[in-house]
Amino acid sequence: MNIAMIGSGYVGLVSGACLADFGHRVTCVDVDAQKVAALQSARIPIYEPGLDRLVADNVAADRLFFTTELASAVADAEVVFIAVGTPSRRGDGHADLSFVHAAARSIAGALKDFTVVVTKSTVPLGTGDDVERIMRETNPEADFAVASNPEFLREGAAIDDFKRPDRIVIGAQDERARTVMGEVYRPLYLNQAPILFTTRRTAEVIKYAANAFLATKITFINEVADLCEQAGADVQEVARGIGLDKRIGPKFLNAGPGYGGSCFPKDTLAFVKTAQDLGTPLRLVETTVAVNDQRKRAMARKVVAACGGSVRGKRIAIFGLTFKPNTDDMREAPSIAIIQALLDQGAQITAYDPEGMASARDYFAQIGYAQNAYDAAAEADCVVIVTEWNEFRSLDFERLKEIMATPVLVDLRNIYRPKDVERLGFAYASLGRPN
Ligand code: UGA
Repeated sequence: MNIAMIGSGYVGLVSGACLADFGHRVTCVDVDAQKVAALQSARIPIYEPGLDRLVADNVAADRLFFTTELASAVADAEVVFIAVGTPSRRGDGHADLSFVHAAARSIAGALKDFTVVVTKSTVPLGTGDDVERIMRETNPEADFAVASNPEFLREGAAIDDFKRPDRIVIGAQDERARTVMGEVYRPLYLNQAPILFTTRRTAEVIKYAANAFLATKITFINEVADLCEQAGADVQEVARGIGLDKRIGPKFLNAGPGYGGSCFPKDTLAFVKTAQDLGTPLRLVETTVAVNDQRKRAMARKVVAACGGSVRGKRIAIFGLTFKPNTDDMREAPSIAIIQALLDQGAQITAYDPEGMASARDYFAQIGYAQNAYDAAAEADCVVIVTEWNEFRSLDFERLKEIMATPVLVDLRNIYRPKDVERLGFAYASLGRPN
């Protein structure tokens, strides 16, 4: 099939490359000429494991193309995906849909034969209706259907998530659109991925409800971790004990410093706002948002306690800055609130992250950045693991003890066992586990 992908950001690029890998002919469109030029020579502007290879292979196979010319890409396509950005609008927390609306107008002007136009970006309820209305106004003659096909990709595992999804959701009432979308995902039938055909509205709700549920699940275990600390219980055993119940499930029950990233914080907030507008407030999700916001900064208190009640003048090494491993994404990362709180209390910070330091500099120009974990830990009074990159899972504790001023480790991802670290002569604090 001929597919146009409007927007070559994270979602557009991963989806475009994977659809090309299925054998479709995919043209990714972006307004940023520099980005397009880089992509044409298979230089990838984001960090996502395996994506450079996937793009290069499919460009070489003449299945994946990049252009700034929206009109010709759309005219040739049977399916046009809208995968442009939907940032939070300043002030009111609603999603800013100006890029989506602009894309709808441009696509409408360029259509030829029957085309399915698909929203892939995470969009508020009713956006599919807006896109359809804008397109009809722009080009009343055009023959098209608008579908919603939300993505469930995780950064760092996006290619695998696309190729081996738990499910595919297609919101479209139009029979022709359903048939075309079935063809797009036909290669996945071989993997037996269930495909759910719903109405457009339902598909839009599924996306937000899924992210809000996951964010709530994380926030639940985070609060249980706090309780475990006071009660002298072990949150990891609690997570295992409840997760073995098939109705609960074992995943997304790792206590941590609060969820971050470009999706959960934005999507939970947008869902809350929409629900309030509809007069059906989602009080559980509202609480999740508030609890998670407070948690990030509260993590700094753990560090202060581990440093004996004050961090003034102390040297703190931060291991991991990105909101999770295997990404260079700093958006809404817990490290931001934690570092800010520690700076406010007079700490000196040196940080190390395998991929995130370039974007971290936009947030913190005044802290030190080290080339590796051990350089960051030199002379430190405390090491704080904020993001669970693999390279922090096998630290050389003897070396750390030698180079640190005092051997104190705060592990906000519970990647070590308290007894193991303490045996090596460290003071150790983690989340929700008795020491
Ligand atoms: C999330 C969803 O998992 C995807 O399904 C969805 O498609 C995506 O948002 C989106 O809406 O585009 P992502 O933001 O890449 O994906 O990251 P996750 O792996 O879900 O992690 C989100 C946050 O939760 C991270 O800060 C992570 O550290 C935290 N987390 C996750 C925990 O603290 N504990 C857990 O057990 C799991």
